[in-house]
Amino acid sequence: MRKNRPIKLKIDTYNTNIVIEVRRFKPIDTFRVIKLASITLTEQYNPSIFTYFYETYPQGFLVAEQNHKIIGFITGVKISMSIAKILMLSVDPAFQKKKIGRKLLDEFLKISIQENVEKIELEVRTDNTKAIKFYEKNGFKKVGKIKEFYQDRKNAYTMRLNFKGDP
Ligand SMILES: CC(C)(COP(=O)(O)OP(=O)(O)OC[C@H]1O[C@@H](n2cnc3c(N)ncnc32)[C@H](O)[C@@H]1OP(=O)(O)O)[C@@H](O)C(=O)NCCC(=O)NCCS
Repeated sequence: MRKNRPIKLKIDTYNTNIVIEVRRFKPIDTFRVIKLASITLTEQYNPSIFTYFYETYPQGFLVAEQNHKIIGFITGVKISMSIAKILMLSVDPAFQKKKIGRKLLDEFLKISIQENVEKIELEVRTDNTKAIKFYEKNGFKKVGKIKEFYQDRKNAYTMRLNFKGDP
């Protein structure tokens, strides 16, 4: 697959065809991604962290775009030769439940396989039922719990997807 080639996904919304493209994050997207993160994610992030993610693992930072507007993103890193970690996943509330999260995750998984990753891990708030359901539906399993993981001292589940089978 050619690097950076946009992946077109047609989604039928309110009887109107909207086309979503999933592509690699570019530095020009930073402001919109920060804005989206501040709306959808509970943690407060230093804006420089997004540049850091991009510089560390650009192939794992993807955005979903509709009419040149960023409506979702996923970012992750490789933490060892065979394990990748999803650090953030976010879809604009106006576009949630339209399989955009699924598409971003699928593209991240495809890239991970190309990068010889065997397991994908992530942390999710234990009370984020929506995201837990989303990850379970996409093959992730809860494999642990971390107490006081977040800035507000709330707990996290560690979830894992193992391409080789066992969690
Ligand atoms: C979690 C999130 C990324 C899901 O993205 P999305 O585009 O809305 O999800 P999809 O449309 O691809 O959903 C796929 C499946 O996930 C589950 N799911 C998604 N949203 C859900 C909701 N509100 N309630 C229950 N299940 C939900 C469903 O099983 C759904 O399948 P279905 O539509 O056949 O029922 C999105 O809700 C989001 O950005 N949430 C806020 C940020 C967040 O919590 N990120 C994860 C932090 S680790």
